[in-house]
Amino acid sequence: MPSERPDCYALARNGASCPMITIRSITTDDVLYRQECDLRESVLLRPIGMDMAALAAEFPGFEERFEHFVALLDHPTGERVIGCVTLLPGYPQPRTGKLMQMCVDAQRQGEGIGRRLVAALERRAFGELGLSSLYCHAQLTACGFYHNLGWVSSGPVFDEGGVAHQKMLFEPPPAED
Ligand SMILES: CC(C)(COP(=O)(O)OP(=O)(O)OC[C@H]1O[C@@H](n2cnc3c(N)ncnc32)[C@H](O)[C@@H]1OP(=O)(O)O)[C@@H](O)C(=O)NCCC(=O)NCCS
Repeated sequence: MPSERPDCYALARNGASCPMITIRSITTDDVLYRQECDLRESVLLRPIGMDMAALAAEFPGFEERFEHFVALLDHPTGERVIGCVTLLPGYPQPRTGKLMQMCVDAQRQGEGIGRRLVAALERRAFGELGLSSLYCHAQLTACGFYHNLGWVSSGPVFDEGGVAHQKMLFEPPPAED
């Protein structure tokens, strides 16, 4: 995976880096995908009364279309997934994308890992895919995280799966001459 460059806006806003943690893009065929799903279930889905099957039922076909980004901790027994996020490119319009399934292991939150995951996703979305904007449905408790990365709230608070959410948007700043 290419190194983090200035076109990762989340990272450019703060030079945070986490030694020993690498960010990688994986597919659902990767051996690490099972770990990604386990993390999503334990940190993100079960606390709101869902699991991977319920997610697939609510968003049919999304899992296969996602681009998956994982944060990996190097460990003597093998790499461990300690954070993840997914990108649904070209949704709902060809030049936009949706960030989904953002989570970091509860023991490792607050270390800048979430920021690096969003940076990798932004780099892919804007630097490689040429998307013009991203959005997500953020749980209200996580809105501050996205605000911190330069995303902006849009529209009213709404219910999704029994949890209060708000739409958040990000557009890269115009390129300087
Ligand atoms: C939200 C989450 C992904 C953030 O990941 P993280 O690795 O802990 O975040 P980072 O350490 O990269 O934080 C980046 C910045 O955002 C801030 N931040 C992180 N979580 C925040 C929150 N919930 N509210 C306000 N600010 C937050 C950090 O303090 C940090 O600010 P700084 O750069 O000024 O120090 C993580 O806490 C998590 O998995 N939470 C549970 C699941 C969840 O809510 N997922 C999002 C669903 S929409």
